[in-house]
Amino acid sequence: MALFISFEGGEGSGKSTQAQLLEERLRRLGAPVVSVHEPGTTHLGLYLRKWLKQGRPFDSELAEFLLFASARAELVSQIVQPSLNQGTIVLADRFSDSSVAYQGYGRGLPIKLIDEINTEATGGITPDITFLLDCPPKVGLTRVGASFQLKLFDSPGSAKPVRESEGTRFEQEPIHFHENVRSGFRILAEKAPERWRVVDATLQAGEISDIVWEDVEAALGRPAEENGHGPRNGILPGISTQSALHAHTV
Ligand SMILES: Nc1ncnc2c1ncn2[C@@H]1O[C@H](COP(=O)(O)OP(=O)(O)OP(=O)(O)O)[C@@H](O)[C@H]1O
Ligand SMILES: [Mg+2]
Repeated sequence: MALFISFEGGEGSGKSTQAQLLEERLRRLGAPVVSVHEPGTTHLGLYLRKWLKQGRPFDSELAEFLLFASARAELVSQIVQPSLNQGTIVLADRFSDSSVAYQGYGRGLPIKLIDEINTEATGGITPDITFLLDCPPKVGLTRVGASFQLKLFDSPGSAKPVRESEGTRFEQEPIHFHENVRSGFRILAEKAPERWRVVDATLQAGEISDIVWEDVEAALGRPAEENGHGPRNGILPGISTQSALHAHTV
């Protein structure tokens, strides 16, 4: 049974942690699963990720968005769509919604433009479930080691790019940027509650994983067990035990 699940949220909200925990749980059940992250996973995505991580500023916010959209188009074409066609569960660590939140609500590009280009880039593919790891920016940024930047950026105009070799360009943004991104994600979740699950990202990672698992089980047609959410040895109905498409993952 093909299922497309994305994890969204601000910096350090726990997206990668939860994607990995979910992948492990699904693999233990023998479910075919492939994980992707944005930008990355494909050769083009990794190339762009490396470039973006250098933290060099763009003159054009549109140029920045188009780079993300370009990586997304390649990711969908090369991995997401073929995997879904084969009945594989796809876990995405960020997807189109990140552009709406960061380049739209964060940078101020028109949401309509972002939606249109996202639709072109993805062929209209939308996740079946999107988990929003809703996190106060200071908590997330501190987790990823950007606490010293918070001090810098709390006073407007005093910002200087730091951490050239680590982190992302967004970690270097002032705190109000991250607040706007967080609000943007929450607006998206409110607009489409049938797709979004908003999870308190300040809970323990294990607790969040259990919440995620309960929803995923329900989506796969297998209710959560009464005694908790631990992994089981069974095979999910409708899921074949074919090995996951590691070969597609770069
Ligand atoms: N629920 C949690 N509580 C406390 N710490 C957490 C939690 N989830 C993840 N972490 C830790 O916070 C840090 C960031 O987690 P993770 O890399 O999963 O976040 P992310 O959203 O993928 O970050 P990024 O935006 O940088 O990709 C890691 O050190 C991770 O171990
Ligand atoms: Mg991550």
